[in-house]
Amino acid sequence: MKNRVLIALPKGRLYETGTELLGKAGIVIPPAAEGSRKLVFPDAGGRYEFVPLKPIDIPVYVESGTIDAGIVGSDILREIEADVYEPVDLGIGRCRLVLAAPSGVELRPAGSVRVATKYPRTTERFFRGKRLHVHIVKLDGSVEIAPLLGLADMIVDLVETGRTLRENGMHVVEDVASVSAKFIVNRTAMKTKSADVRHLISQLDTVVYENPGL
Ligand code: PRP
Repeated sequence: MKNRVLIALPKGRLYETGTELLGKAGIVIPPAAEGSRKLVFPDAGGRYEFVPLKPIDIPVYVESGTIDAGIVGSDILREIEADVYEPVDLGIGRCRLVLAAPSGVELRPAGSVRVATKYPRTTERFFRGKRLHVHIVKLDGSVEIAPLLGLADMIVDLVETGRTLRENGMHVVEDVASVSAKFIVNRTAMKTKSADVRHLISQLDTVVYENPGL
């Protein structure tokens, strides 16, 4: 339906906590939404519709206005640099983006360092800030394996518990950014669908305040 607010939900690790937050905000998403082949799901109240998407695509859709709003990690927002409103830090999906390396490998001021990452632009900015030139190897997953196999010297990746790094004999060299999930809104939708969008923002604000980190 044309007037409903279309909301992107991130498939994967933020899906469960994201939908739980929306549920507490009074927006009930049909339970089969994530696994189903159907692309768009209405909520029970008829004000919103949901589209489960790959997280990396969510800022692109929301910036273009194809989708009005969405939930996405700040790691991805930082990487995509989309021009969207970020009215609510949802406080879920908290982790860190770090520069990590195998034991014994440290950041050297000179020389050529190869860095494997899913976040090439963030990594490029991080090293530019240090006035270091690095060779970035863009990967789509299992980044930790790259130094073990000799594809890269270091990685920039997410750390939550630290287990993946430990089990692969790596350590944190430096923090790049702290990460949490944000509720983002298209700039035009904020005006054209103002009542429903503002209602949702205020509900989410309350839920986040009452359930920090869920
Ligand atoms: C993320 C990240 C690390 C891991 C960190 O990967 O890229 O591999 O989680 O978590 P930990 O510190 O608790 O061990 P994800 O599970 O999203 O899969 P991916 O490697 O395929 O991106």
